[in-house]
Amino acid sequence: MASSKKIPENITVLGAGVVGLSSALVLAHTYPSAKITVVAKHFPGDRSIEYASPWAGANWSSMAHDNGPLEKYDEVTFKRFGQLIDGENVWGCKAVNKGEGNEIGLSRFGMLAAFDTPIEETGILSADTNKVWYDQLVGGLRYLRKEELPTDAVFGFDVPSTFRINTAVYLYWLQAQALSKGINLVRRHYPSITSLLADIPSSLLINATGLGSLNLSDVKDVDLYPTRGQTLLVAEPKTPIPRMYEYGRLNKYLRSPKRIDPTTAYVFPRPLGGGVILGGSRDDNNWSDEWDEELGKDIMQRCCELCPELGRPEDLQVISRNIGLRPSRKGGVRIETETGKWNVPIVHCYGHSGAGYQSSWGTAERVLELVLKAFDSGSSKL
Ligand SMILES: Cc1cc2nc3c(=O)[nH]c(=O)nc-3n(C[C@H](O)[C@H](O)[C@H](O)COP(=O)(O)OP(=O)(O)OC[C@H]3O[C@@H](n4cnc5c(N)ncnc54)[C@H](O)[C@@H]3O)c2cc1C
Ligand SMILES: *[C@@H]1O[C@H](CO)[C@@H](O)[C@H](O)[C@H]1NC(C)=O
Ligand SMILES: *[C@@H]1O[C@H](CO)[C@@H](O)[C@H](O)[C@H]1NC(C)=O
Ligand SMILES: *[C@@H]1O[C@H](CO)[C@@H](O)[C@H](O)[C@H]1NC(C)=O
Ligand SMILES: *[C@@H]1O[C@H](CO)[C@@H](O)[C@H](O)[C@H]1NC(C)=O
Repeated sequence: MASSKKIPENITVLGAGVVGLSSALVLAHTYPSAKITVVAKHFPGDRSIEYASPWAGANWSSMAHDNGPLEKYDEVTFKRFGQLIDGENVWGCKAVNKGEGNEIGLSRFGMLAAFDTPIEETGILSADTNKVWYDQLVGGLRYLRKEELPTDAVFGFDVPSTFRINTAVYLYWLQAQALSKGINLVRRHYPSITSLLADIPSSLLINATGLGSLNLSDVKDVDLYPTRGQTLLVAEPKTPIPRMYEYGRLNKYLRSPKRIDPTTAYVFPRPLGGGVILGGSRDDNNWSDEWDEELGKDIMQRCCELCPELGRPEDLQVISRNIGLRPSRKGGVRIETETGKWNVPIVHCYGHSGAGYQSSWGTAERVLELVLKAFDSGSSKL
């Protein structure tokens, strides 16, 4: 490849969710002389139904099974999370770790996952290999004995070491890293790419708008749709919760007349005073920001059955009721360069659905690969 010296001088990242901020950090490290601006309607600290990132649980629990790029994004992110916890340098970012907690809001944690269907019907086995691809990565899955399984479950495993994320702390940390690298933050809503480019001189634009992409008048992606999720934040019980719990009742859902999938119960004890997140639900194409009381009660009931440390539903101290819209997309996440239409290359990175955290560094590194190609600087500093 010819190594022309061309580098992007003005980089604009549209979107300040976990995807936009992670991408901005990778680019800032690669192009230290570039002027980078993150433009967004919402920034860390905001709580809006239009902003998915604050509402995630969150944990690393890969749903990828393509034996391809999606697994790779999750794998890269798993490694970067581990490096950050171990105090290593990740794209110029380092975290201060002290004792149990750390300033990023990330920690290693175990998880118990169960299903009411045989493993072949869960959709977690990889194409071609027919294996759970991350078995070794998480330290070797231990399959549960019948007496260890929740009611009606037919199979499950213990994940020795995955990650849990206090998303409020983590998002602020990403933003603080961006500020420390001289990245500019601009709070503005743009109705179109054209109007953005008219205001902010850009030699490269990264489109990390999540569901917001649906609303850009000159680039409506009709493949995007929301997958609504309800969770509760409750107080930490006095008995510590030793692991995360997740129970997918696929069989029950398939036989249920309801369109909403209310059947995946999950319990995430968040680190660093983050409380405990109880979930959940998945409702495709529903934009409603109204709390569903019946579903909320059902979530508390299911989580208490799954996690004995929580006690009884009536004893839970509810701190907040949360509704988030996962940015889902027919055909999956879109990471792609578009050139020609606006005279500057646009790299799209949106539609992460329920996996925006666990794939964040992997997709940001994919964005970088595309940027290097677009600027024909494949052998530059990496
Ligand atoms: C209940 C729930 C649980 C979840 N659990 C997990 C989990 O355990 N693990 C996991 O990995 N993921 C989880 N997720 C998914 C995760 O939250 C999302 O995949 C991720 O937040 C998507 O990030 P994003 O940066 O693409 O989008 P967003 O966070 O929505 O950010 C979009 C950004 O673009 C800006 N924007 C959009 N349009 C415009 C415009 N026209 N002008 C200006 N700014 C604009 C917005 O203001 C915002 O800053 C969960 C989600 C929910 C709802
Ligand atoms: C899209 O725009 C409409 C109208 O301006 C607004 O009500 C809605 O919240 C927006 N949705 C998102 C996801 O930005
Ligand atoms: C960002 O991606 C969305 C989804 O495809 C699209 O609708 C929107 O036009 C894109 N924005 C830009 C600036 O390219
Ligand atoms: C972990 O996150 C995935 C989505 O990334 C979700 O489906 C699952 O329920 C979560 N697990 C727990 C224990 O919260
Ligand atoms: C969307 O979800 C809410 C809350 O669960 C529910 O009351 C409403 O009927 C749903 N709307 C549609 C169009 O399905």
